[in-house]
Amino acid sequence: MAWLDSHTHINDEAFDDDINEVIQRMIDAKVKKAMIVCLNEDDFKKALYITSDQIEFDIALGIYPGDVKEFSKERVDKILNLLEDSRVKAVGEIGLDYYWDKDNKDAQKEIFIRQIEIAKRLNKPIIVHSRNAIQDTYDILKAHRVKGVMHCYSDSKEMAKEFIKLGMYISLSGTVTFKNAKEPKEVAKIVPLDRLLIETDCPYLAPVPHRGKRNEPAYVVHTGKYIAELLNIDEDEFQKIINENYDNLFRR
Ligand code: NI
Repeated sequence: MAWLDSHTHINDEAFDDDINEVIQRMIDAKVKKAMIVCLNEDDFKKALYITSDQIEFDIALGIYPGDVKEFSKERVDKILNLLEDSRVKAVGEIGLDYYWDKDNKDAQKEIFIRQIEIAKRLNKPIIVHSRNAIQDTYDILKAHRVKGVMHCYSDSKEMAKEFIKLGMYISLSGTVTFKNAKEPKEVAKIVPLDRLLIETDCPYLAPVPHRGKRNEPAYVVHTGKYIAELLNIDEDEFQKIINENYDNLFRR
């Protein structure tokens, strides 16, 4: 068995100088699958060049809520058209972010819903980004049902239960390893095992013992081992579970 990273920005410029070493460290750490999340058409082109004969890379593409105010109508249309590309396995990360942008909520909602509807039509899962916007995110997902994952989930366990009822997966990042992060640890304990995923969201949010440094896919192992121990599950068994979940969500 092997580890996986369900959400990586390995195509970020943070990795431009040492992408081959980063991939080698993934292989050494037995991280054998990764979802490369692209925020625009340039990201997507770059992701197509990231390959390895020992790692299965998948690609997700979607308009990030923080970019909604910046992108022209033409650019939005161009990215939405690209979602049809068969190499795009998931639509994301999409969603709502009222932490960085709270003056364009309606525009964010509109783009989020448009992308959900495209995902439904194409029968692709979505990857949801939600920050300081959990209730609106929930209301939209309840009204527009589609399969997907709450990426880097950082809200309450009560809301996690509600998303699970909608059929969503819950993905935990390195924050679960942070000493003072009570919520992600509580969430890890209540998510049904067949709905749980792990991710780095690198280059951000490096888990302990790399906290504060650039994150990379190989570090997902720290997050995986931490959760396995928290749940008192054998490491091999936990790897098997998350691989099943990843395949069920993104590959079937
Ligand atoms: Ni991300």
